[in-house]
Amino acid sequence: MKLLVTGGAGFIGSAVVRRAVAQGHQVVNLDALTYAACLDNVASVADNPLYVFEQADIRDRAALDRILAKHQPDAVMHLAAESHVDRSIDGPGTFIDTNVMGTFHLLEAARAYWVARGKPDRFRFHHISTDEVFGSLGATGQFTEDTPYDPRSPYSASKAGSDHLVRAWHETYGLPVVLTNCSNNYGPYHFPEKLIPVIVLNALAGKALPIYGDGSNVRDWLYVEDHAEALLLVVARGAPGRSYNIGGENERSNLDLVRTLCAILDRKRPRDGSYADQITFVTDRPGHDARYAIDPVRIREELGWRPSVTVEQGLELTVDWYLANEPWWRALQERHGVGQRLGVRA
Ligand SMILES: NC(=O)c1ccc[n+]([C@@H]2O[C@H](COP(=O)([O-])OP(=O)(O)OC[C@H]3O[C@@H](n4cnc5c(N)ncnc54)[C@H](O)[C@@H]3O)[C@@H](O)[C@H]2O)c1
Repeated sequence: MKLLVTGGAGFIGSAVVRRAVAQGHQVVNLDALTYAACLDNVASVADNPLYVFEQADIRDRAALDRILAKHQPDAVMHLAAESHVDRSIDGPGTFIDTNVMGTFHLLEAARAYWVARGKPDRFRFHHISTDEVFGSLGATGQFTEDTPYDPRSPYSASKAGSDHLVRAWHETYGLPVVLTNCSNNYGPYHFPEKLIPVIVLNALAGKALPIYGDGSNVRDWLYVEDHAEALLLVVARGAPGRSYNIGGENERSNLDLVRTLCAILDRKRPRDGSYADQITFVTDRPGHDARYAIDPVRIREELGWRPSVTVEQGLELTVDWYLANEPWWRALQERHGVGQRLGVRA
């Protein structure tokens, strides 16, 4: 297949790009290169004849039309977004612009392209979204594909808005869309403002390991390479108009997760005492969702996908990667806002 991947210089998008090229797909990586992007994430495929990079903004309709006409993809995999909840609390406008308006422009460009080619059944517009659109769970229950939307942060509200647009373009115009809503990803190339890299890098630097609130918030952790595999399966075999929840089957509280990371570092980079001694509880995020959990039955039964690693195995791989790739994360730590506490404004 020829895939147009938006946001392919980001964390998850770059995993999709690397894996798609490895599987023999042609890939056009469309990315605006915001603060969250890093072309080193795709350095391993940069010279591959299957790979092309196009720097463009998904809000720039003329650029989208030009890139679609030039490359003639069989599918669009849409990952470009503003993705950090804390930044969405401080500056929601960018999230509405990129995640809602950007998705609108991309849908319109994809629709015009699809119509101009005679509306091929095989075309896919694959929208990558989050489980955060479903809101917050109590101690029990899981999100299914039919769970009503209840977003609670500017980030999740902007992603919910984009999901609604994608479904509407299917119902109204017949555009063959598929949607996926995944849980928290982690793994190599995770930008160093997100929880897991912050903990690993602060631990190594002898700094405090910040835990929001009391650390009881539960997330279902999904290894990014498993997610990329699931996404390539959905774009190839997902049914038009259908959505698929993708989870890691690995629920952990933030505090348990951080303690596991500390135990791994204690083994791999021993020092006096435990890294867990650096754990510090800090003011909670406003509107911090208590628990997310994914019911993974649909993607398992319809497409045969399951995660390949447990969270313990995935965290080992992740810590190894950060220990081996210091130049990568050191450069990104210089970027605006990284290392600062964001999103505390209520
Ligand atoms: N990281 C997670 O745990 C997670 C969980 C669920 C869903 N998602 C979704 O998956 C997708 C990818 O997430 P990520 O963590 O890789 O994000 P990321 O922030 O690491 O990467 C986003 C990429 O999109 C690009 N981008 C941003 N605005 C753009 C614009 N206007 N035009 C073109 N490119 C633009 C950035 O340059 C960057 O390369 C997002 O849609 C996000 O909402 C992420």
